[in-house]
Amino acid sequence: MQPILELKGATKDFRGVYAIKNIDLTLQEGEVHAILGENGAGKSTLMKALAGVHHLSSGEIHLAGKPVTLGSPLAALKAGIAMVFQETNLVGSMTVAQNIYLGEERFLNGLRKLNIRAKQFLMSMNFDVEPSALVSSLGAAQRQMVEVARATHHAAKVIIFDEPTATLTPEEKHHFFGLIKRLRERGTSILFITHALEEALQLSDTITILRDGEKIVSGPTETFTRESIIRNMVGRELSGELYGARKGHEVAIRAPQSKMLSVDNLSMGKIVRNTSFSIYGGQVTGMFGLVGAGRTETMKIVAGAFKRNVFHGGEVRLNGKAVRYRVPRTAMRDGIVYVTEDRKQDGFFETMSIAENIHMGALARGNNPLSVVSMRQAKALAADWTKSLSIRAINTSSKVIELSGGNQQKVVIAKSLVQKPELVIFDEPTRGVDVGSIVEIHDLINRLADEGIAVVLISSYLPEVLALSDRILVTRQGQVVEEMSAGDATEDKIMYAAVH
Ligand SMILES: Nc1ncnc2c1ncn2[C@@H]1O[C@H](COP(=O)(O)OP(=O)(O)OP(=O)(O)O)[C@@H](O)[C@H]1O
Ligand SMILES: [Mg+2]
Repeated sequence: MQPILELKGATKDFRGVYAIKNIDLTLQEGEVHAILGENGAGKSTLMKALAGVHHLSSGEIHLAGKPVTLGSPLAALKAGIAMVFQETNLVGSMTVAQNIYLGEERFLNGLRKLNIRAKQFLMSMNFDVEPSALVSSLGAAQRQMVEVARATHHAAKVIIFDEPTATLTPEEKHHFFGLIKRLRERGTSILFITHALEEALQLSDTITILRDGEKIVSGPTETFTRESIIRNMVGRELSGELYGARKGHEVAIRAPQSKMLSVDNLSMGKIVRNTSFSIYGGQVTGMFGLVGAGRTETMKIVAGAFKRNVFHGGEVRLNGKAVRYRVPRTAMRDGIVYVTEDRKQDGFFETMSIAENIHMGALARGNNPLSVVSMRQAKALAADWTKSLSIRAINTSSKVIELSGGNQQKVVIAKSLVQKPELVIFDEPTRGVDVGSIVEIHDLINRLADEGIAVVLISSYLPEVLALSDRILVTRQGQVVEEMSAGDATEDKIMYAAVH
């Protein structure tokens, strides 16, 4: 059968360093093809070359048998290839409808007509999105729907997704899986990148694995297992169980040290409702809840990380002293850091280097002039962190924006930890991070708690919560509703508390 898309010898270097080398790939009509690999393996680069974002240094792209040059994302879209990026590509200040028909001025004139048209179009795809809503007001799943609508509107034959499920709730993921199946039935071919190996096994027809910019293996999904995928990704056996249950058997549960934080009747609008709990030093406290349960918001209030000075009631005490932070800087001075889930929004300074970001992190804590870190020290620190978290970059003066998604996440973590905090709040720390690096980040979290630091882990992945926590707080509708010791906790018990 004539493949819809064929890549031959695809190679791309950035200033002489190869991101992908000599990759061949074929995609049939209606095929769902998963692209897997560690952080920095070259997945996004390969996909961006197909979407007209990067131009190959050498190699060819064939569409339906004919060689094509894809000079820009718009050219790729016109040729029938659409990409939904790791970081969304929509215009936030425009409406849903305007984004779908972007670049088609004839539609942009009559807004009312445009909205009606968009409404019908969205409904035909079963998408529940309001055409007149501003894109900036939408959640991740709805943004994705808008991107797919835009691609479908342009009659894309190939749709590429870069980590589509990373920011989705379990319910939204379910919808996304349905969407992929419907697209496949229509004959649309799908390429998608994911770090969730179960998803690749469940959803794809074909799996391709990249390592260090090279294609290691490609074949029908049924010829792979979770273990064989990992082995091909990392090039060795990964020892130990990634999410070994804790339960007080294998790893001792840490006893609480001093009470570091106490939160009493904290509330903010409808999101945080009269919530009370404590956090202790020398422990990992897991916070589990369904999306919308207010975990992020609660901890952002604690860390002064809300952009606006929103009113909120209740009390937060740090080591017994009442505090109320309006900006993260003052919370950092007192030793609280919030390691963000949204690295694009408030994680780092993207046009600065890794070392400069770490330098900024170190300066933020600078209440003691003797502790201020020089740029030379920052470079040494950056080199240490680059090694201990295996951040993959050409060197520490690479700009953060040039790093792969997962490596950016690691810089955010490093930048926060150079501040030598006493209370660290990790919000989804392993999202977008490959299986090997998850182990490193988990080790790091354990080490912090062993050193006496109070660690809060917000995670939507129950096995992760169970594997790391000494104590678990379950939140529901803006409130901590139950507290469990890791020894008593099971997935069922936590889930029950989170929904009932
Ligand atoms: N614009 C750029 N300039 C310089 N180097 C780049 C650029 N984009 C990517 N790279 C480098 O190319 C390599 C592959 O990056 P890529 O983003 O393709 O990885 P990835 O497989 O998508 O990883 P992740 O799972 O972390 O998203 C990395 O070493 C990265 O630093
Ligand atoms: Mg990527």
